[in-house]
Amino acid sequence: MLQALGEARIVVTKRCVDVPDLMASAASGAAAVAVVSGDLPRLDAEAVMHLLRYDVRTLGVSADPSAGERLARLGVVETTAPDPAAVVAAVLRVAARDVVADPDGDDGRATGRHLDEGRPSARGRVLAVWGPAGSPGRTTVAVGLADALAAAGRPVLLVDADPYGGTIAQQLGVLDEISGLLAVARMANLGTLDGEALARACRRVGDRFDLVTGLPRADRRVEVRPDVLGTVLATAADGSDVVVDCGFCLEDPDVPLARDRMTLDALAAADEVVVVGTAEPAGLARLARGLVELRDVAGGVPLRVVVNRMRPTLGWSERDIVGMIEGYARPLGVHFLPEDRAAVDRALVAGRALSELGESHLRAALTELATALDPSAPVLSRAAARPAGRRGLRRRLAG
Ligand SMILES: Nc1ncnc2c1ncn2[C@@H]1O[C@H](COP(=O)(O)OP(=O)(O)OP(=O)(O)O)[C@@H](O)[C@H]1O
Ligand SMILES: [Mg+2]
Repeated sequence: MLQALGEARIVVTKRCVDVPDLMASAASGAAAVAVVSGDLPRLDAEAVMHLLRYDVRTLGVSADPSAGERLARLGVVETTAPDPAAVVAAVLRVAARDVVADPDGDDGRATGRHLDEGRPSARGRVLAVWGPAGSPGRTTVAVGLADALAAAGRPVLLVDADPYGGTIAQQLGVLDEISGLLAVARMANLGTLDGEALARACRRVGDRFDLVTGLPRADRRVEVRPDVLGTVLATAADGSDVVVDCGFCLEDPDVPLARDRMTLDALAAADEVVVVGTAEPAGLARLARGLVELRDVAGGVPLRVVVNRMRPTLGWSERDIVGMIEGYARPLGVHFLPEDRAAVDRALVAGRALSELGESHLRAALTELATALDPSAPVLSRAAARPAGRRGLRRRLAG
């Protein structure tokens, strides 16, 4: 191969002994293409992404015709047979592929983003449930929404991606010795995650929806490597709607810490973000700030606001709150969930989803939210469809 490459006037800058050597060599900026053996130990999505950051595209070489699919999932641009002429031609092709130098580019395989493009109709949506600090009810909404979408007959996968450690398994009485999220993240990083592998890592909840259980401890979040969650969510969306329970941290996106990174990756993969805030004064103030932060990090992602724990004793109307929210964002809809301690406690004590426990105000409101999220249903909820409310509440919060 070296001889054939030389004859084609392709300069081989270095013959690397292993992946760390290859990654260090990429940093020198001298190479445009990394030619790797398809079964190179420790070649994973993170290594391929590292190479791309230095503008080095990876070409796989393998005698196994089925290796290409696995390598493509790692972000390898092309895989070719170990034939000198074929390798020379592939190196020239791969070197000319500018577009893959941008991991957010039109390929999108390694990050799982760009789900809209060329999406087959069987593809579900990724709905990221996010909300500011202060436990506004992200997990309650994520579980309730997954449950309500499943009750409407949709295949649903719920992913517990809270970087502070998962709680959904415990809430739903699912015993899982192994974290589903860590298992699928590991497979995504190795390029072995496909629909079947994902299904094996899921737990079934009451024969209604599937669950990827969360992190056992917050410090294990470093094992969910950057961009891997995007791959997991893209795989998950192949055939079901995906609801993701996210963390709240969205700090500086230029220097993301591991805890922010998971949330930012989930938001980047989302087709729609469900923003949860609570109806009390501090909750609404945090919601307003959260909407501004979200706009900064997630740009034009479509969002929907859920005002949780709404109750008449707070003294403001739904219309007041819609008016305040519209001062900060243009959501697809604003939805209200009532304070319903009795229903929530029944579900928590029984370790079950709300729909398994009969009727409740909260369940009815979640069903309405799930209906609004159905792409074939009208997009605005009743509350949001009303004319914009008074701005008095915004002044009260700002003061
Ligand atoms: N609509 C509701 N009515 C009554 N209680 C609620 C409602 N929604 C949430 N809660 C309660 O509020 C608390 C926080 O809810 P939850 O755990 O869903 O919040 P979170 O945003 O996921 O918090 P964390 O920051 O811990 O992830 C829980 O005790 C939950 O039962
Ligand atoms: Mg939570």
